[in-house]
Amino acid sequence: MKDGKFSRREFVAFLGGTLGALTVSSPLVLSGCKNQESLMGIKPSDLDDLVLAKGLDYKLLVEWGAKLNSSDTFGFNNDYTAVFPLNSNELLMWVNHEYIHPMFVSGWQRGSKRTKEQVDKERYEVGGSIIHIKKNDRNEWSLVENSNYNRRLTATSEIPLVAPRKIAGHEKAIGTFAGCAGGTTPWGTVLSCEENYQNFYGERDSKGRFSKGQYGWEEFYQMPPEHYGWVVEVNPKTGESKKLTSLGRFSHECATTVVAKDGRCVVYSGDDKANEHIYKFISNKPGSLDEGELFVANLEKGQWLSLDYNKQKVLQENFKDQTDVLIFAREAAKLLGATPCDRPEDVEVNPKNNDVFVCLTNNYNSDKLEDPKNNFHGKILKIQEKNQDPLSLEFKSSDFAVGGVDSGFSCPDNLLFDKAGNLWMTTDMSGSMMHKGPYKKFKNNGLFYFPLSGPNAGVAFQMASAPTDAELTGLTLSPDGKTIFLSVQHPGEKSKSLDSLTSHWPHGGKSMPKPAIVQISGPLLDSLQK
Ligand code: FEO
Ligand code: CA
Ligand code: CA
Ligand code: CA
Repeated sequence: MKDGKFSRREFVAFLGGTLGALTVSSPLVLSGCKNQESLMGIKPSDLDDLVLAKGLDYKLLVEWGAKLNSSDTFGFNNDYTAVFPLNSNELLMWVNHEYIHPMFVSGWQRGSKRTKEQVDKERYEVGGSIIHIKKNDRNEWSLVENSNYNRRLTATSEIPLVAPRKIAGHEKAIGTFAGCAGGTTPWGTVLSCEENYQNFYGERDSKGRFSKGQYGWEEFYQMPPEHYGWVVEVNPKTGESKKLTSLGRFSHECATTVVAKDGRCVVYSGDDKANEHIYKFISNKPGSLDEGELFVANLEKGQWLSLDYNKQKVLQENFKDQTDVLIFAREAAKLLGATPCDRPEDVEVNPKNNDVFVCLTNNYNSDKLEDPKNNFHGKILKIQEKNQDPLSLEFKSSDFAVGGVDSGFSCPDNLLFDKAGNLWMTTDMSGSMMHKGPYKKFKNNGLFYFPLSGPNAGVAFQMASAPTDAELTGLTLSPDGKTIFLSVQHPGEKSKSLDSLTSHWPHGGKSMPKPAIVQISGPLLDSLQK
């Protein structure tokens, strides 16, 4: 115990147990703190189920393949979700469909030749869904089938590129995919972030060197790689969309907005790749992200470094114009001295004080697991802008919570602040490493809750455990605070064939696993936000 705080290990010892000895029926119980009397955590689980802490319950909202209207179905691998109220009982929900599992989506098997028909099926299953949902008087949300609002964006949708000049010779891109996390704007649009875009049509660096994508779509459709890796702004009421080049091109995990005192919009974004960076964007004017200034973090100096071509000689020496800088933002950031990070994932800004929380998920070499430089468990970094001002170009950073056996979590990915100002977080241990080596103790991926104040500030309590191979992601709170919407992504993704499935979630029996969005509610969620 330090400064009146228990470490998680000390806390468990205090309860008279050890981490390994706890069972689902002997949860961690935190008592004696405001709003935390009923806080109970579960122990890690390897069940093929969405296991929840006592006082929480879940129901399916929508699953892969659900009929949205006469022509559209809900896409694969739901990730980020965002909600926009139509009235007190109805919402529009945006959902990212990040990537495909060819075996489930198109029937392609490793080693076989891919066909155009298979790629066409795959291109439909990524992008995003806009769905109209409504709740009944029992607080249960359901899809409004055939609502005029229901629509899909896919890898074939035509989307304008907002830029001062053509990108790779075009003013429009074909399709969006790799949408991981995202954000919402104060003017009611959603920001969908293209993350691992290089897997679809390959990648090309600033020297023109091309590398193939893992899905091999470029065999049938040659799309410029420079059209992907952007933040896509979508109007959830109309489906109208545009790619914002102003925020730079990289593996955008998220685009988290906060409004500055003068009304301009500040956007934080992580580049989820090993040794890449944390970015901040300041819009030129309120109500639009079409133009503005992009910055990248130097954590050692506590400085946001401008990627403005006109301000930086080194950028003028290496790039032909500002658009070129934004297309190759990673290379520009390195020239400026940005700090390489351990895979920056989601960012959330504490609404009470503008503290910026950034998940740095992990950074290890899976071919050299003994390398002492490996960071297996990641951490949540806290950035405090000077004077709590999002426009500030100076900041301090510190660790909010560090992953590992002591803290009970590994590989933080997505974040959410609840109505009481406490933090929820989901984890994403890679399927290839889960239940192995350093990850064994953590079992399946999970959902965690951190009180931000009181004696257990910063202590992680596990609130849910994911089905086999799945990641929990896309956590969003309903406007009334009574429901957490949560994406269960890629259950059963390590299945070797349709005859040997590793997961049967959500329908059990011998059924095929399906990514789905669930709604979580219950007395525990209510009491934590009182
Ligand atoms: Fe798609 Fe960075 O997680
Ligand atoms: Ca993510
Ligand atoms: Ca988030
Ligand atoms: Ca992730």
